[in-house]
Amino acid sequence: MKTLIVYYSLEGNTRWAAERIAEKLDADTLRLVPKAAYPDKGFKKFLFGGKSAVMKETPELEAYEVDMAQYERVILATPVWAGTMAPPLRAFLQKEDLTGKQLALVASSMGGSPGRTFENIKALLGVTGDVPTLSLRDPKSHPSQANEDALAAFCGKLA
Ligand SMILES: Cc1cc2nc3c(=O)[nH]c(=O)nc-3n(C[C@H](O)[C@H](O)[C@H](O)COP(=O)(O)O)c2cc1C
Repeated sequence: MKTLIVYYSLEGNTRWAAERIAEKLDADTLRLVPKAAYPDKGFKKFLFGGKSAVMKETPELEAYEVDMAQYERVILATPVWAGTMAPPLRAFLQKEDLTGKQLALVASSMGGSPGRTFENIKALLGVTGDVPTLSLRDPKSHPSQANEDALAAFCGKLA
């Protein structure tokens, strides 16, 4: 099944996961890049990103070229920010129509809990049924067997 993995990543963990999944499922990837980069260091990182997530901001994204029509399945991957999706993913979801696509969701967090990320993405898309999900704990900066097992199970389900 032709699959696109759409992801945003500030510090590389979600990107790491997206690339691993792409490799295993032979999928394409689309990296979302906000025109105004979020700070990636120190206190400002949590302050600016956290506020933006809580305010449900939809930052302008750098232009991307993708023909959504050619993909039957879309996997959405995001870091967890203040318990929900990072704003660049929200901006993408507001712009694109994913009606009729098979969906799967990936969240990378520091604490290992996706918070309300999956529910919020589904609510934004108006999806009510079951959607495969994968929750990872900083898979690039803190590699673990638990992450590896979860990733393998997720890819096995989608293969
Ligand atoms: C603005 C901001 C808010 C965050 N909020 C949470 C949170 O609510 N819960 C959590 O477990 N981790 C939180 N984190 C940590 C990231 O979700 C985690 O480190 C993630 O793996 C980073 O992914 P990335 O490397 O792709 O950016 C936050 C990080 C940032 C920058």
